[in-house]
Amino acid sequence: MTWADWVRGVEVEPSIYAADFARLGSQLEALLDAGARIFHFDVGDGHFIGEITIGPVVLRSIAGLVHERGGSLDCHLMVSEPERQFESVKEAGGDSVTFHVEVAADPARTIARARELGLGAGVAFNPETPVAQAAAAAAGADLALCMSIHPGLSGQKFMPEALGRIAELRRSLPDTVLVQVDGGVHADNIRTIHDAGADLLVAGSAVFWQDDPGAAYRGLTADLAAARSVS
Ligand code: DX5
Ligand code: ZN
Repeated sequence: MTWADWVRGVEVEPSIYAADFARLGSQLEALLDAGARIFHFDVGDGHFIGEITIGPVVLRSIAGLVHERGGSLDCHLMVSEPERQFESVKEAGGDSVTFHVEVAADPARTIARARELGLGAGVAFNPETPVAQAAAAAAGADLALCMSIHPGLSGQKFMPEALGRIAELRRSLPDTVLVQVDGGVHADNIRTIHDAGADLLVAGSAVFWQDDPGAAYRGLTADLAAARSVS
């Protein structure tokens, strides 16, 4: 299974980092019932980013539930030395790894290592990183992830200058590479972000910090469907 099998055109990916971990299983069930199939899973090491987030122990506890419903786990590694984590992510049930170009000495080799392990491969880049550098690194990947916040925490505001960067990224990449956007995606900007060129829209607080995460997910996908039908 690869990204080509998982992606149904455009996807809203609930970002599990923003979940209520006392109720994680029931929140994921509700999102699967609402139609979500690709889940974004943020690993932070307290070094590449200041925060220690979630890792293989949590991944392992949810992988069965997500996979038995036909879902996949898209792991965003906000860590130094990302290759060191690939095996444990794979063993815990991760389906794809996205590493940051800022900490990859040889991105092509890192992509190849992910593929050797049977993982999808993505290249992420921070707001300060030149788009051209990220696009060159991601040319052979499944996706390129344009950060629209400084990575670290859910609930930050979308940086408006990301829109131009998303468009430049889309223009710079082959059609085979999906464009993902992470940070500050909400109902009031999701159409604009999609129109700029994003295929994969990560949404943390816009899904999990709402009274009804399933309804919030459905609302975001409806906003996207409306955007697609007029484009
Ligand atoms: C933070 C993470 C994000 C985060 C997004 O750096 O990479 O995936 O959960 O949360 P929102 O959608 O609330 O900005
Ligand atoms: Zn993320």
